[in-house]
Amino acid sequence: MKFDEIYKRLSTYRTSGGEKLLFLLTPTTMRGIYDCVLHSNAQECIELGTGYGATTCIIAAALQERGGGCVTTIDIMVHDPIGIHVLAAHTGMAPYINAICSTAGYNWYMGDLIAAQTKNGVCEPCLDFCFLDGAHEWGHDALAVYLVGKLLRPGSWLVMDDLDLRPRGGHPAWETVFAHFTEAELDTYHVARIYNLILRQHPDFGEFALGDGGRTGWARKKSAAPSPWYPTTHVLDPLRLGWRQAFAPAELAAQAHRTDGINIRRKGSAIQIDAELTDPFFILPGAVVAQRSIDAITLRVHLVSPPTETLQIFWINATRENFNEEQSMRVKLAAEDGWRDIAIRINGTREKWPVRAIRLDLTDGPSTVLWDDFAIGGWI
Ligand SMILES: C[S@@+](CC[C@H](N)C(=O)[O-])C[C@H]1O[C@@H](n2cnc3c(N)ncnc32)[C@H](O)[C@@H]1O
Repeated sequence: MKFDEIYKRLSTYRTSGGEKLLFLLTPTTMRGIYDCVLHSNAQECIELGTGYGATTCIIAAALQERGGGCVTTIDIMVHDPIGIHVLAAHTGMAPYINAICSTAGYNWYMGDLIAAQTKNGVCEPCLDFCFLDGAHEWGHDALAVYLVGKLLRPGSWLVMDDLDLRPRGGHPAWETVFAHFTEAELDTYHVARIYNLILRQHPDFGEFALGDGGRTGWARKKSAAPSPWYPTTHVLDPLRLGWRQAFAPAELAAQAHRTDGINIRRKGSAIQIDAELTDPFFILPGAVVAQRSIDAITLRVHLVSPPTETLQIFWINATRENFNEEQSMRVKLAAEDGWRDIAIRINGTREKWPVRAIRLDLTDGPSTVLWDDFAIGGWI
């Protein structure tokens, strides 16, 4: 079933009492999940935290569209009057859904699955996609990421929601619900902490990207084969920057080290970059980074042609010698988006890591891109 159709069926659903479904994700994220399952050809999917069941049905629709598969969705409770069984029946998606309700939760379920998949002491991966949107707590979800990391096949995508959520103020009854938390736990963005400290440093994951204004974190289990699909990201960090310094792209480009195949022309306040080859790059002048601890980069770009291109931004800090995939972010550009303001969180943690170099690649090429503002910034 096409995305627009499943979304319409879900959003127009009403119970006999007139209640409607509460969507817990933005349409952008639901569309991203749908496209990911469809285009990465995921067959066995898992959702950790079913909620009312909207995203389960979205994943199921993508499975039907690709020709089959199953989404296993796990929760500690069934929501009423609108829950997964009601929505699965209403949308016709039940054949693609395996809904599990157990107070033991998803970590117990994944423990059982790892046991079943273990032969001669090695767990054979059996999943192609995971959406983690459950407890939103450090202990539970750090373990969930570790467990699902064993179960995902190489090349599979993992998405985590709510990087911008913290317990204090993040729940109407937070003072009661999180009464047992320390001040530090209350003020921590738990999912962001897991994304940055567990997933981004996990040796089996790469291709990190933030979506939906920094709310969702994406990562791909490493594979020799490139992904047939990448998330379209509006990569904004959930945390505020304490300082920011802007530079004119024309000056940066004039001083940058660049490979062959990049031609630059001024276009008003912007510059036009014509990349004639695949994967040409700029390394920005050393004076920009100046060994400062940089936590974010912001830039304004407009893809003129072709319809899509991937901008990849690399950085080197004290932890690595060379540019590498793990210290990079990919942003999928679409010509139809026009000007895009992109903010990318680099370095990944609140620790101070002096940055030694920043590189910008137009990876797919050939392409024409307009580039306007550029700034670096950091936490205080
Ligand atoms: C934000 S909702 C999920 C929303 C859903 N993924 C969607 O996109 O519509 C979070 C759900 O996770 C469930 N949950 C929390 N901790 C869990 C655990 N340890 N195991 C299973 N489910 C859990 C909650 O009961 C709640 O229904």
